[in-house]
Amino acid sequence: MYKIRRKIVKLAVYKYRYLILARKNELKVSYERGESMKLKKVLKKVGSIALCAMLSMTVLPPTNVSAAESLRGESVYQIMVDRFYDGDATNNAKGEAFRNAENSQDDFRYMHGGDWQGIVDKISYIKNMGYTAIWISPVTDPQLWGVPDANGKQWPTAYHGYNVYDPNRASRYFGAEDPEQSKQKLKALVDTCHANGIKVIFDIVPNHVGDYLQGTGNNAHYISSVGLKTGSQVQPVAPYNNVQWYHNNGDINFNLEHPHTESSTQMLENHDLGGLDDIDFDNQEAKAAVFDSVKNWFNYTGADAARIDAAKCMKPSDIHELQDYLGVATFGENFDMDVSFVKDWVGDNAETGMLDFPLFQAIVNDFAYGQNFNNTSEISIQAILNQDGLYGSHVNDMVTFIDNHDRNRFLTEAGGDVDKLHNALTFIFTVRGVPVVFQGTEQNRGNANGQIINGIADTWNRWSMVTKDANGNVVHDYFNTSTDTYQLITQLNSLRNQYEALVNGTQREMWSSIHTYAFSRRVDSGNNEGQELICAFHNAAGTENTTMSLRAESSIAPGTTLVNVMDSNDKITVTSDRKITVSLTGNHSKIYKIDENAEAMIPVNFTVNNATTNWGQNVYIVGNCTELGNWSPEKAVGPATCPNYPTWNLTAYLTPGTTIEFKAIKKDSAGNVIWQEGNNHTYTVPESGEGQITFNW
Ligand code: NOJ
Ligand code: NOJ
Repeated sequence: MYKIRRKIVKLAVYKYRYLILARKNELKVSYERGESMKLKKVLKKVGSIALCAMLSMTVLPPTNVSAAESLRGESVYQIMVDRFYDGDATNNAKGEAFRNAENSQDDFRYMHGGDWQGIVDKISYIKNMGYTAIWISPVTDPQLWGVPDANGKQWPTAYHGYNVYDPNRASRYFGAEDPEQSKQKLKALVDTCHANGIKVIFDIVPNHVGDYLQGTGNNAHYISSVGLKTGSQVQPVAPYNNVQWYHNNGDINFNLEHPHTESSTQMLENHDLGGLDDIDFDNQEAKAAVFDSVKNWFNYTGADAARIDAAKCMKPSDIHELQDYLGVATFGENFDMDVSFVKDWVGDNAETGMLDFPLFQAIVNDFAYGQNFNNTSEISIQAILNQDGLYGSHVNDMVTFIDNHDRNRFLTEAGGDVDKLHNALTFIFTVRGVPVVFQGTEQNRGNANGQIINGIADTWNRWSMVTKDANGNVVHDYFNTSTDTYQLITQLNSLRNQYEALVNGTQREMWSSIHTYAFSRRVDSGNNEGQELICAFHNAAGTENTTMSLRAESSIAPGTTLVNVMDSNDKITVTSDRKITVSLTGNHSKIYKIDENAEAMIPVNFTVNNATTNWGQNVYIVGNCTELGNWSPEKAVGPATCPNYPTWNLTAYLTPGTTIEFKAIKKDSAGNVIWQEGNNHTYTVPESGEGQITFNW
């Protein structure tokens, strides 16, 4: 007879919950286990069943595809494979693990059929948007059914791939049932991408396998599969089914992670992330097995870079070692809004870059919620970018995003306002770093069903690009290439391609006020030295005109015409005192570059005699051309200087040969305007040289 023992087993619920409270001034991040409760379970002691002989992967010599040492210059499309496109129905999960519909929150926890062939099929959809890389969800074979939750229910855990079953086998649901064929399909995907000039970033999961082990310490054990769903795997594949390889300390308590101290950091490293069995990297055997399995995938497929899952729960030095071993660029996930903490994972002794969670939160706060750009005491654009120095020379390796598979879709956060979406996208494609955009963003669709998710977003935001009903009939195909956002992204990608300044340029703040933020990206050395783009953003309704100075480091000369790269009719001229006036409409942005085609402007010196002023007033010139503000006092040129009161002097750069009308105005800092009386003055700008106009107020 088998010896049956009755045991109290603490069962974890299917998936951990992160709770994110990002409200106004306050941001708290905590990961919280859903309820768990003690259940009596019959535990049958199983001898170690060799679940499968470990797949010995053929290790091919590295291919000639050059690994990415850095992802600078790339722009990345993030793909959750199961939710992208079903290119091969034969690999779909069978039976109840599979669902077509996306009507309820539960529907999103099942497999939906997307696979690597689907990405191959849709490669031109991605390529034509101008992306140069894709980041795909984990490639390894996943745990199909989780251990029973508090109610005894088993949830499928396979579609996202973060609950690993066999680190050495290519997901049977994304490739093929046959391991050999499956890995060939993965390689075929990488080859197709490379043939199309697209790099492939694997999402790797070295921190943990799935959630199998129950109990802690000496009581850590695998449960029996008796009474569980067919196909339940209750242990990872050998040799990963070795209890000694895991920390077995129980779950991370995310209520205790802040403030970050040595001991809270150790807790992150040595405990389970929501039940996921946490590999002990101090166990050399375990570490070598994990490193080798990852390395083999890179060797075999020639993939280009890695996104490191749950980097927050691993030592930066361990990840650095792995990165070195792989010989590719990596960026990790440290789900934390604290720059001084995240920066520990970035650098020559850590990772190439990191997912920029702090900036992400600032983007949501400022671009979706319309909070103040310039609030330095909360998570704002200015507050976060002010800390860029902490990333040292790796600042352009930070990976920027507006949402992802764990967050509400940006459009949902923005209340469906597509202008805000475009503004935020323009921001991540121009700000320092490497932009990554989650699949489907280009379709102007927020979370499915308009649902906002509190805490970790792992359902409504993960809709399939082809949405189906329960019977598998297509409800909506989201591979539309004519949306305005698809077009915008195409344009933004081509800009990054064209201007090194957007990739390597030094970023310098030019303006920061409640609702307007502007920076310059300038190439300070090398072939494109001096190339500079000026990017300005407005995050509220209504028009705002802002006059700002060029940076001292800028080599753009007074009189230079700048043109908006998104609208060739939108030109502005740098004034004699090195200022520009940027006019931004509601939730819009502009990107100015030097207009190479513009004819040289003529400096015209204005002398206004007899302009007596009250304290606080200054004299400006306004007129009927763009350079003189098109009669708008807010965009008038000035203030004039007054070395010899009440005579005022000012130089404006005007188009040669044009006849202009203008007046002087007096303006105070509150914007009160006094117009010069009488008729407008007229003047014809000379074709060359300089102009001089003298008149009385
Ligand atoms: C972070 C991933 O982005 C998330 O989706 C996943 O569930 C956890 N890490 C655990 O691997
Ligand atoms: C409005 C001013 O009041 C006026 O003085 C000026 O001549 C016109 N703008 C320009 O047409």
